[in-house]
Amino acid sequence: MIKSIGIKKINTAVFISGNGSNLENLIKFSTLIKSPIKINFVISSNSKAKGINFSKKYKIKYKILSFKNKTQDEKKTLDLLKRYNIKLICLAGFMKILSKNFIKRFNGKILNIHPSLLPKYKGLNTHERAINDGAKFAGCTVHLVNSRLDSGKIIMQKKIKINKTDTPGKLAKKVLKQEHILYPKALIKLFSNR
Ligand code: GRF
Repeated sequence: MIKSIGIKKINTAVFISGNGSNLENLIKFSTLIKSPIKINFVISSNSKAKGINFSKKYKIKYKILSFKNKTQDEKKTLDLLKRYNIKLICLAGFMKILSKNFIKRFNGKILNIHPSLLPKYKGLNTHERAINDGAKFAGCTVHLVNSRLDSGKIIMQKKIKINKTDTPGKLAKKVLKQEHILYPKALIKLFSNR
């Protein structure tokens, strides 16, 4: 008998700002029996984000909030998350920093994927910085979000080799491919004892 039958999936919101390849990947994953999550809602901080098209394609409700007025938009976000009974947030290329208060409200229930082997290269331009440093390895990390940037508990990482011919763009593509494998795996790991 398949273990997950009968176990209710966790209502999840995905926050994006850009292309949304991780969003589409998570949506596809969420339809599998082995997925612990169901995606009910998407927030985009960018009205021009290509990723919004995936919400439309897969008929998932979404909301665009610029977070320029952080306090106001976080309040709106919390109201929406309540309305959709969201229990987990997956950040996927979300380019805004959530406030301490917001994180507290969802303590331990916000995940992020970061394109480096944390604690190395927190923040932006990770691939460029790794190449400029002559680093041998790059990778990606799924971690819990706490109030310090890219510093929450690490759930899973994937390491890949940096080749001499890698440019930041080439490396970003290779790492992104691994992100699409890692995020679902990390979710399975995190909720394996449910
Ligand atoms: C990914 O590399 C993610 O790790 C980073 O931003 C990128 C988002 O890509 N935070 P996408 O929007 O999911 O395609």
